[in-house]
Amino acid sequence: MPATDSSARGATIIGWGSYLPPKVLTNHDLERMVDTSDEWIVERSGIRERHVDGTTIGMSIEAGRAAIQSSGLSPADIDALIIATTTPDKQWGNAATVQDALGMRCGVFEINAACSGFVYSLVAAHGLIAMGATNVLVIGADSLSKITDWNDRNTAVLFGDGAGAVVLQSCDGPGELVAWDLDADGSAGPILWADVGGYIQMEGKEVFRRAVRIMVDSANKVLHHAGVSGDDIALLVPHQANIRIIQAACDRLGVDMDRTAVVLDRMGNTSAASIPLALDDALTKGRIAPGDLVLLVGFGGGMTAASALLRWGPRT
Ligand code: UT7
Repeated sequence: MPATDSSARGATIIGWGSYLPPKVLTNHDLERMVDTSDEWIVERSGIRERHVDGTTIGMSIEAGRAAIQSSGLSPADIDALIIATTTPDKQWGNAATVQDALGMRCGVFEINAACSGFVYSLVAAHGLIAMGATNVLVIGADSLSKITDWNDRNTAVLFGDGAGAVVLQSCDGPGELVAWDLDADGSAGPILWADVGGYIQMEGKEVFRRAVRIMVDSANKVLHHAGVSGDDIALLVPHQANIRIIQAACDRLGVDMDRTAVVLDRMGNTSAASIPLALDDALTKGRIAPGDLVLLVGFGGGMTAASALLRWGPRT
């Protein structure tokens, strides 16, 4: 489903922020918990440490507050709040609690598309703006540490907690979003799942294989729709699951690793938070300039995939 409607009212990202809970779990800490080694984890995944013991609501409040501050708006200016998460703290009302804590008075909802959730939410936010909203806060937040079995070395080495957020504002003209794609392949659901109240389960090798394929397919649809190639991408911001998945996807898309945002060494896989955390890191380091093409690509349980190609606006 690759699309953009150039006649629709567009949006630009005018603020961003992120939050990581203070408790850090290193690979060496994990060596004392399960039969693994720092060397194995780094070689097979690229991860060195992750943050744990966050709550989805608490991290969303901090990342959301930072993004609103960076936008120069006040909480009362926000027309809608979307939180992408696959680990809500409560069955419902997570986004509403964040709204209240930040002093916003707007409509709120949560989107669960697993690790693709932030890009799904970003596209949904553009839809709200096309239909008349002015300012939308989008947060990707996940506290995977609470659904990780810390006795299972197959999964314990990969996941972490965090939150990242952006504020979108309507603008004259088409805005930053050049093309987008939302994708899913439900036949692959049984290779990566968590029952309600249960732990993350996965067939790692199969997830790896399909992840590369579904990410590359989704990204290629967007590139094709926009009439550009990997060479034109100034920065790829992929879901941060495994450095080898990112490398394989970059190879196929024709994007060098030095044009790719990577934070997983310090954060592990933070699901819906991973893309906004990597985007925030890249912006903080000055890696994005006005006019740059920035490609966000996510994949996750379901399986889902989503891509958004942005032509970065004046704010960096
Ligand atoms: O958001 C999406 C979430 N999930 C993912 O992205 C997961 C995608 N998959 C992956 O990232 C990789 O498949 C893993 C990192 C999970 C595993 O890497 P791999 O290169 O596919 O390793 P493997 O599963 O083939 O295991 C190789 C060996 C096995 O031992 P034998 O059979 O060769 O003796 C495993 O038992 O490594 C062993 N192993 C471990 N050893 C030390 C598996 N987990 C560990 C571990 N520490 N944590």
